[in-house]
Amino acid sequence: MSRLDSAIRRLQAQKAALEDAARRAAGIDGPALEFGLGNGRTYDHLRAILPGRRIVVFDRQVAAHPDCVPPDEDLYLGDLFETLPRALADLGHTAAIAHLDIGTGDKAGSMALVARAAPMIAGLLAHGAVVVSDQPIEGVPGLTPLPLPPGVDDGRIHMLQRV
Ligand SMILES: C[S@@+](CC[C@H](N)C(=O)[O-])C[C@H]1O[C@@H](n2cnc3c(N)ncnc32)[C@H](O)[C@@H]1O
Repeated sequence: MSRLDSAIRRLQAQKAALEDAARRAAGIDGPALEFGLGNGRTYDHLRAILPGRRIVVFDRQVAAHPDCVPPDEDLYLGDLFETLPRALADLGHTAAIAHLDIGTGDKAGSMALVARAAPMIAGLLAHGAVVVSDQPIEGVPGLTPLPLPPGVDDGRIHMLQRV
């Protein structure tokens, strides 16, 4: 498979998983959490598929397309491990959806980052909340794997539920 095909499949998997998460979490009140604003692509899609739901965003900096910059009150700016404790104090365990897209080209570094962040993120989730992650999440108490949407290959994206 060419790198272009692989990139397209990854983005298709991300889109399908976010839309599945939106459906699964429709009955749960509370914000969606976007970890990794980047250029704002997935933030913009979450806005489109979650009308009326607050989307709280975490990143080191704002480098998004000007149309995709979250309002200041929905933005936790800085390193995740500094902002997560503040978010926990502000939000408690209320989030309905968490999307983790904090990976880089460094696979081992990205997996280590998510492994460290996932238990803290789990503490922000409401019962039944859905997690979508670009990296695998394993062995986090209270998070159980979900099946992927039809047509999405195993390993392209990861979905879990807070039980
Ligand atoms: C792949 S990009 C996100 C892409 C974005 N979801 C989109 O669709 O445009 C990853 C983002 O994660 C952020 N990030 C990585 N590690 C972080 C950390 N420890 N704390 C805060 N943000 C981090 C980076 O600054 C970067 O903007």
